[in-house]
Amino acid sequence: MPTRPVVLGVETSCDETSVAVLDGDNRILGHVILSQDEHKVFGGVVPELAARAHLQKIDAVAREALAEARVGMDEIDLFGVTAGPGLIGALLVGVCWSKAVAYALGRPLVAVHHMEAHLFGPSLEDAEAHPPFIGLLVSGGHTLLLHAREWGHYRLLGRTRDDAAGEAFDKVAKLLGLAYPGGPEIERLAREGDPTRHRLPRPMLRGGQSPADADYYDFSFSGLKTAVVELTRRVEGEGALGVERAHIAAGFQAAAVDVLASKTMRAVEETGCERVLLGGGVSANGPLRDELRRRLGRHGRLFHASPRLSLDNGAMVARTARFRYDVGQTSPPETTAAPDLPFPGLVNGMS
Ligand code: KG4
Ligand code: ZN
Repeated sequence: MPTRPVVLGVETSCDETSVAVLDGDNRILGHVILSQDEHKVFGGVVPELAARAHLQKIDAVAREALAEARVGMDEIDLFGVTAGPGLIGALLVGVCWSKAVAYALGRPLVAVHHMEAHLFGPSLEDAEAHPPFIGLLVSGGHTLLLHAREWGHYRLLGRTRDDAAGEAFDKVAKLLGLAYPGGPEIERLAREGDPTRHRLPRPMLRGGQSPADADYYDFSFSGLKTAVVELTRRVEGEGALGVERAHIAAGFQAAAVDVLASKTMRAVEETGCERVLLGGGVSANGPLRDELRRRLGRHGRLFHASPRLSLDNGAMVARTARFRYDVGQTSPPETTAAPDLPFPGLVNGMS
């Protein structure tokens, strides 16, 4: 087995079918991301439709990525695939496809954790984006705050008690009549609004005054969402939703960004680590990036991927598979998808 393997990464955990090919130096040779638009009319991802669409597209997406990379399937040395967390039917398509191909070619396979893959996203574009860092992972299904001392060794500091950050953006967008996915829509609409016009709650910001308190680093977005529902209903009753929509979007985004940035800065202060890495779909949010950069000041560093590598993609999966392979971990043939796969390498035992 070569020490600098060519890696093919597969991502099918939610509504993106994506395959990437990385060379032995982790450079992206080919990368295709197909976003399913089957779900748009439903205002959210329909699991059954997602699985079916992955099944229909995975072969073509892989072929296109290989063609772009000018690499033949038999030249792939290592396969990586998201095995969880995610939608079971969707995950199974990627896992079964990758197992079948890897097995047929006699190549090793690495089952990858989707959220660890988001941590690796920024490193594909910036060689400096490596531990130590405080990682804020914000996606449609997860909100995690962790301290990475080195790759594969993570201290989990906090997570959401209810909705994920991206889920809150999606739900508020739906409420305001915006399309799915809601994050970019909210960000766009909020530009036209005044974030101070409606002061919305900052859940769990006052709760927990020291790192010893259970909720010092945890997040909660359901209360904020409920406050937006109540505000929207009141404004609608007054017949003013048309003029207030942008202000509501701006107020919501400001509250979500404030909570995310404040908890992250708590971790920066406690650990003394002034390097912050932002990963997951919500890391594409401009105001979140700006606020973190502002609070980190001149001494701190903020790492995040470009929009293409912030959203779900096969390149981050291939990169994570390469890391796991380099530390001697490959997955046995009986590997399967796990919708609630525990985060790997947590040194404080939470999952
Ligand atoms: O990581 P991701 O692509 O998929 C999951 O692993 O869930 O994240 C998708 C989430 C969605 O909830 C979407 O609304 C959110 O990321 N998102 C954003 C933005 N772009 C995507 N949220 C806020 N602002 C954005 N610009
Ligand atoms: Zn994701």
